Amino acid sequence: MTDTLPPGPRLPGMVQALATLAAPVAVFPRVARKYGVPFTLRLAPERRPIVAVSDPAHVREVFAGSPSVFHAGKGNELLRPILGDHSLLLQDGDEHARARRLLAPAFGRREIAGYRTLVEEVTAQQLDTWPRSGRVRAHVLLNQLTLEVILRVVFGVTDSARLDRIRPVVARAVDAGPVVMIGLGIPALHRVWPWSRELRDLEVLADFLRGEIAAARRDPALAVRRDLLALLVRASAEDAQGLTDAELHHQLVTLVAAGHETTATAMAWSMLELARHPAIQDRCVAEIAEGGELPYLEAVLKESLRLHPVVPMVMRELQEDTTLGGRTYPRGVTISPSIVLAHRDPAAYPSPREFDPGRFLGEVPSPTTWLPFGGGARRCIGASFALMEGEVILRQVLERYRLDPVGSGREWPRARNVTLYPWRRARLELSPR
Ligand code: HEM
Repeated sequence: MTDTLPPGPRLPGMVQALATLAAPVAVFPRVARKYGVPFTLRLAPERRPIVAVSDPAHVREVFAGSPSVFHAGKGNELLRPILGDHSLLLQDGDEHARARRLLAPAFGRREIAGYRTLVEEVTAQQLDTWPRSGRVRAHVLLNQLTLEVILRVVFGVTDSARLDRIRPVVARAVDAGPVVMIGLGIPALHRVWPWSRELRDLEVLADFLRGEIAAARRDPALAVRRDLLALLVRASAEDAQGLTDAELHHQLVTLVAAGHETTATAMAWSMLELARHPAIQDRCVAEIAEGGELPYLEAVLKESLRLHPVVPMVMRELQEDTTLGGRTYPRGVTISPSIVLAHRDPAAYPSPREFDPGRFLGEVPSPTTWLPFGGGARRCIGASFALMEGEVILRQVLERYRLDPVGSGREWPRARNVTLYPWRRARLELSPR
């Protein structure tokens, strides 16, 4: 056993930070080849060590580790001014476990099945607004679509005029880039645009949410409502430790923020791959035409999330000295299961750069080699929702359109906040079927 950290690049912290944030798909495999995995990165400004792991046994140890030792909340600190102190993404330990227990009922198997009809309706309405043919930037269209889905699923459809007023505010407020987020932590900037606008948007959003929460709490029809807010208000009323209004508020913003751009990005990558692989696209279309279950389409989604993980890595900061893979890491070190490296491991995925949905046909992916939603106690709470939504969207898109690539159809991953989206926003040629 040793307590030294694994080797890693010696470049300045700022260079390491930029490379990790902006181009993990290009940089991580290179660093892995040079230093082996695990390797240690030191990112500016703090230069606190981050150890990337990808060996399935190490990934298992991290995800199975005690949530009181492996903290995830600190890695999301930048999001605090937008999401709020009680956000699931920022909590750790008992506080996180309690919130997770209260939110979980809204993401059960039956509840997800219950949202499906609404997702189908919203998707159909949104697709009606897409051009019938021609070039599009699918990522832009999908972002609108998934925002609409999450807003309607979270708040129900009780008052669409209210939703119309709030939609642009939500889109701006929760999609803030890193410059806006960093600036929100500096009070002197609060009176200056764009931070002044962001704060105004957050205030309008807070008013809206307070109104929706109060209305749900006194709604005589609460018991029959199927939207997520209603489920959470009901679950809270039945629980002695139920969520307070402030907690509900922060969790709702979190779900809207975490739940729409991620899904839109995953769909954009899937559509790009389908456009580039006509035979795979035809097989999906044939499966859809048969009616019934869609195992191949599901495999397409899984393979797309493997080859193009929307989130490249997850982070856990050790709260005490911890032994992992035979090496002891001191408290304060961050261990980071690298989704990019795990998904490109040739031992788990022969010819890892190829798009081959057949890998997942009839296979339940292993949580240590397929981790687009992270894992363990912090695994994405919306994973089943996202997969259901993805299936609905792809099915309806393929029922209406043939997808063709523009040029080679290859696009580089581009980093925005914590996600990697197609560089040119998924340029595609649509033609009616
Ligand atoms: C394809 C779409 C999505 C991807 C790729 C994705 C990915 C992720 C990842 C990697 C994490 C971190 C997991 C970890 O640290 O182990 C996460 C957490 C989370 N996601 Fe998702 N997500 C998606 C969709 C959604 C949706 C639709 C929702 C909500 C409706 C959602 C809500 C959340 C929340 C609340 C967390 C924090 C969980 C916690 O800390 O306990 N996500 N997601």
